[in-house]
This record gives sequence, C-alpha cells and structure tokens, in this order.
Amino acid sequence: MGKFIVFEGLDGSGKSSQIELLKKSLTARGEKVHVTHEPTDYETGGYLNRILSGRESKDIHLQAALFLADRIEHATHPEHGIKKYLSEGYTVICDRYYYSSLAYQGADPDCDYEWVKTLNLGCPKLPKPDLCIFLDVNPETCKGRIDAGRDNVELYEQSAVQMSGIRRGFMTVLEDLKNNYGHNIVIIDGGGDIDDISKEILNYV
Ligand code: TYD
Repeated sequence: MGKFIVFEGLDGSGKSSQIELLKKSLTARGEKVHVTHEPTDYETGGYLNRILSGRESKDIHLQAALFLADRIEHATHPEHGIKKYLSEGYTVICDRYYYSSLAYQGADPDCDYEWVKTLNLGCPKLPKPDLCIFLDVNPETCKGRIDAGRDNVELYEQSAVQMSGIRRGFMTVLEDLKNNYGHNIVIIDGGGDIDDISKEILNYV
C-alpha cells in the first residue's frame, strides 16, 4: 500500500510548487508517485468550477455535498482513483482534500461544521491521509500572488480579510482533527525560501 499525502493551504500559498518539488525528490529516490488535485477534472469538478468562478451561485450546504461527491469519485474511480493508485504502491500526493471542505464550507457561519465533518470523516469510501501538510502563508501575501497571477478571482479569493477568516477556520479544523481524530498534520511556515520549505517537507514525509 502506498502512502497518501495531502497538501492544504490558502490559494496562493505555494502548494503546487511544493508538490512538484516533493514529487521530484520522491521520484529521484525510485518511488512511484501520483499527483492529483481537488476539485477534480471529472464532471463533478466541472460543476464545482462553475460555482467557484462565480458563474453559478449555490447554497453552501449544496457546495459541501458536491465537494463530497467529487471526492468520492476521486477516491473510487476504477481507472484513475486514489485508492487504485495506493493499492498499486504509488505515493499519492493530493492538492486539497476534506480538510478544505471543513475549512471553506464547514467553518462558514452559514453552514454546519459537524454535518460537514460527519459527511467526510464518516464516509467509508474516503481513505484517511497518512500525512496532511498545511502550508501557512500570510493571507495578504496569498492575495497579492493571486492578483498578480491572473485576472479571474474565484469565490474564496475575494479579499485578504475573507482569506484570513478561512485561515482561522483551517487552524480550528486542523487542531480538531489532530487532537480528536488522530490525524497526522504538520503546519509548515510557507513564507520562506522555496528550497528550504521543500527540505522541511521532505523531512516530514
Ligand atoms: P484550488 O486549489 O485553488 O484549485 P485551482 O488551483 O484549480 O483554482 O481550489 C479551488 C477552490 O476550491 C479553493 O478556493 C478552495 C475551494 N475548495 C473548497 O471550498 N472546498 C473543498 O472541499 C475543496 C477541495 C476546495
């Protein structure tokens, strides 16, 4: 069985770069690595992308349910699913997983945190990650990177104030899952030198 590693963090926190560097290091050691992301490229992910881009507006509970559906597809897809790769001995590195659902939807005051938690942690089809790495970067810095990088600003990237609220949500979620559900979670300061951060991540992995 391969190991399942999840990266979490705000948009603009540098997850993609660090995932690429980790993939390189593990591949150089002879490991089989599969990199994947949520929302997915399946139909469920397409629906979510329409909501995230602001083309469709949907109730936050519906968002949580759609992210769950997308995640089940992601885990169980017979050809490209996470479980299939894990069973073949791949290290699976996933850009976002249910920690995001708990922080973005569950921690929203209009939603119900316990419900989103039960949906995700209680779903028998979703593998529990072996490690979750949260890249912690100042929300102002993240917002600046998003604005410099592209024109379309998504639903959860509207302002540094909104993103600070999401970061606080993440902190509560990560503490809850670490302390009460035995999740292996590390919070890494993502504000420093890219190669130093990569070495620190490799150490934990
Ligand atoms: P992101 O990692 O930014 O993907 P991309 O680089 O393709 O834009 O994720 C898209 C957004 O989806 C991000 O703002 C967080 C949000 N999201 C949730 O709100 N709940 C979830 O369960 C997941 C997986 C993502």
